Amino acid sequence: MSAPLESGERALLIDRKGRRYLVTLRPGGEFHTHHGAVAHDAIIGFHEGVRVYSTSGVPLIVFRPSLAEFVLKMPRGAQVIYPKDIGLILVLADIGPGQTVLEAGTGSGALTLALSRMVGERGRLISYEIREDFHARARANVEAFLGKIPPSLELRLGDLTAGVPERDVDRIVLDLPEPWTVIPVAREVLRPGAIFCSYVPTVLQVHQAVEELRGAGFTEIATIEGLVRPWHVEGQSVRPDHRMVAHTGFITTARFLGV
Ligand SMILES: C[S@@+](CC[C@H](N)C(=O)[O-])C[C@H]1O[C@@H](n2cnc3c(N)ncnc32)[C@H](O)[C@@H]1O
Repeated sequence: MSAPLESGERALLIDRKGRRYLVTLRPGGEFHTHHGAVAHDAIIGFHEGVRVYSTSGVPLIVFRPSLAEFVLKMPRGAQVIYPKDIGLILVLADIGPGQTVLEAGTGSGALTLALSRMVGERGRLISYEIREDFHARARANVEAFLGKIPPSLELRLGDLTAGVPERDVDRIVLDLPEPWTVIPVAREVLRPGAIFCSYVPTVLQVHQAVEELRGAGFTEIATIEGLVRPWHVEGQSVRPDHRMVAHTGFITTARFLGV
């Protein structure tokens, strides 16, 4: 059985309508909803799945947030990558334990969290962010979810296009507006066979990135868009939800041939 929920941890409270609240647990603390307050002391020391009641008697279930739940609720500086795209990026960029991965920009740190988990303790993730406020926000979000910055993760404040000291890098993963500006750096640091992956919201950006990758020693270039349609499953009403996230971004991957 997992450990009981502790003071300082993030807890996810879910009400009967599926509304989710992310709370940092503090002894004596209270979480206020429009249904009244919930005492943190009713959660601290209890196991996930505990049911708590607000002062007006409304029940909420408590869990530790999953990575996807945390990402959708964590404080944001930059717009985060949605879990549906994070999942695709991890598989299409073939992120795995022990790899050296270069990321930019860190933004709010959503993708950083997922990449960090995948490279594991034996791997290295170096993530660049050009804006000091976003760099600090991402650091706080990683610490909030993982408890600390893992030794395998380096959050660097700086412009990735200015170059990096690393060599023999296995993967570059980019979520920034002009990924083609990173191609010269990618050519210097990637090992032959390494994967370049970029995430951009518009087709014009995809077009420019693909054209420039083609002329720069990359092959197996592919672009996809992931559409996820949630379903409503209740009694006899089994149908797609009325709403879905129609568009987020395009994922482009390419293999480096070596220079
Ligand atoms: C959309 S956000 C990234 C969001 C992030 N993937 C997440 O899931 O939280 C894009 C970020 O790239 C940063 N950025 C843009 N150009 C950069 C560069 N050349 N080097 C490092 N960071 C850069 C921006 O400041 C911004 O924070």
